[in-house]
Amino acid sequence: MDSQEVISKTVGFVKETLKHAESGHDWWHIQRVWNTSKHLAELENADMLIVELAALLHDIADSKFNGGNEEIGPRKAGEFLNAIHVNEDVIQHVQKIILNMSFKASLGTVEFHSKELAVVQDADRLDAIGAIGIARAFTYGGFKNREIYNPEIKPNLTMSKEEYKNSSAPTINHFYEKLLLLKDKMNTETGKKLARERHAFMEQYLQQFYAEWEGEL
Ligand code: ADP
Ligand code: NI
Repeated sequence: MDSQEVISKTVGFVKETLKHAESGHDWWHIQRVWNTSKHLAELENADMLIVELAALLHDIADSKFNGGNEEIGPRKAGEFLNAIHVNEDVIQHVQKIILNMSFKASLGTVEFHSKELAVVQDADRLDAIGAIGIARAFTYGGFKNREIYNPEIKPNLTMSKEEYKNSSAPTINHFYEKLLLLKDKMNTETGKKLARERHAFMEQYLQQFYAEWEGEL
């Protein structure tokens, strides 16, 4: 099977797997991350097949909905790629990328680095900021029935992952607790540049938000 065929089979598998996914991790998130990943991979001279497969498969099993089990995503991806006879080295690299990405803010538990991981991680982070990132944050907040903003509840940067998941903080806090921190975590030069632009857009958005909140006419 040639690479094109492997990719199109993978697209079919991912679409089917994510048919009922919530909107933060639906097929469209995957498609955006896939497109951005291809763009970054070209500029970074990364292995295109590995990058595309990892981008497509990185969210097939969200640990948030699997009792925190980070192993299920890589396992499911490995089983699928095996079934369509992808080279074992490629499979292992893709699995390592998915595992590392699910360990969120690089908690230090896994020591793996590659250009391909750098690229897909940047693309995933870029989708959490800017106009799309804002839309995703408020969608998530609505899904969790959270307030959009509450001036009496200040952002808290010291919550554990578990506390964070169960917190009922307003969505604006998520900007300070996570989204505005992402630009300094980017790996690639192009990723950094795009993140700076999207970051500036979020800051402008917040300024406008507070102005309207205060009733500025
Ligand atoms: P990832 O895409 O890296 O797996 P998450 O699963 O943590 O990220 O989040 C998916 C989307 O939901 C992201 O856009 C993220 O900003 C948003 N999100 C996660 N937690 C919150 C939160 N507490 N408040 C608002 N949005 C959130
Ligand atoms: Ni993702």
